[in-house]
Amino acid sequence: MLRIGLLTSGGDCQALNATMRGIVKTIYRNAKEPVEVYGFEDGYQGLIYERYRMLDWADFSGILSQGGTILGTSRTPFKLLDTPEADGVNKVEAMKHTYKKLKLDCLFMLGGNGSTKTANRLSEEGLNVIALPKTIDNDTWGTDKTFGFTSAIDVATRCIDDIHTTASSHGRVFVIEIMGHKVGWIPLYAGVAGGADVILIPEIPYDMDNVVKAIDQREKDGGRFAIVVCAEGAITKQEAAMPKKEYKKKVAARVKPSVAYGIADEIAKRTGREVRVAVPGHTQRGGQPDAQDRIFATQCGVEAALGCLEGKYGYMIASVNGKMVRVPLKDVAGKLKYVDPKSDLVREARALGISFGDK
Ligand code: F6P
Repeated sequence: MLRIGLLTSGGDCQALNATMRGIVKTIYRNAKEPVEVYGFEDGYQGLIYERYRMLDWADFSGILSQGGTILGTSRTPFKLLDTPEADGVNKVEAMKHTYKKLKLDCLFMLGGNGSTKTANRLSEEGLNVIALPKTIDNDTWGTDKTFGFTSAIDVATRCIDDIHTTASSHGRVFVIEIMGHKVGWIPLYAGVAGGADVILIPEIPYDMDNVVKAIDQREKDGGRFAIVVCAEGAITKQEAAMPKKEYKKKVAARVKPSVAYGIADEIAKRTGREVRVAVPGHTQRGGQPDAQDRIFATQCGVEAALGCLEGKYGYMIASVNGKMVRVPLKDVAGKLKYVDPKSDLVREARALGISFGDK
């Protein structure tokens, strides 16, 4: 008997079901022995509290194009892993207990950075774990791409497209806030795809003088409206120079709902223009996966399943230079993949006239 466990952890994304379908179909098709599939509910919480469902082939049929996760998800912060739950439960011991009690041969964990740190810990504790790179943010270290990313770019781009028409009608400046607290992959890609005039991302701290200069220039060039795309974590040069603690305090003390509103107020004050804010928010994680995500998610699922059937564990499935590879969990854990401010896309965007607010 081959017993596998599945869980989806952290913020959801569009291609989680497609990934699990890839794992389970491959296991069923290729295993030389009968298979039992345990689906843990709501991420690591299911593993901690023994909340699971027995699943079979039929549960994974018809879900390739379905967004969300059939298992449910939740966040179990890594930094609190060794802090007992409110009811006194030791999370790591409870997860090991569930894994051993069910006699699992392998746990497949679909998750982002924090979740992968936990997967690494479980692997160090002796469990057979394979991680799969989920996140719309595309910030997982060790892989060129993550599933969820391209679908999120599409949603964000459609939002920018839609705002274009109304911004044009009214001759307004729009600040569109796109997901990404620490990294700016989605704002960068959607900003270029949607034809933004200004893109503000955490990796390239901005100066409001430069943002205003870019908006003024667009007006001089005959543009009736302007589109500023900012990441949730867009940061000024001044803020970037602050000690981390001080910056965190400043963010916590913000009275505005999010960063875009402060940027919009400042632009309105300095330019005298009519400025509006649009925040697509969690729509960027919702709806169906796009075709590219379905393909990559399927590849990840299949590769993870084949790895399990070989009896190899302790890594994350990744795509590096177009090849599907296995990256040891210990190498991935605790690292983020940032946008390189010197990357081709940033250079090309600048050449096109897009301002990043830094100069
Ligand atoms: O990590 C995915 C993500 O969507 C980020 O882009 C965003 O900053 C965050 O999650 C939002 O988290 P929550 O779903 O907890 O509001």
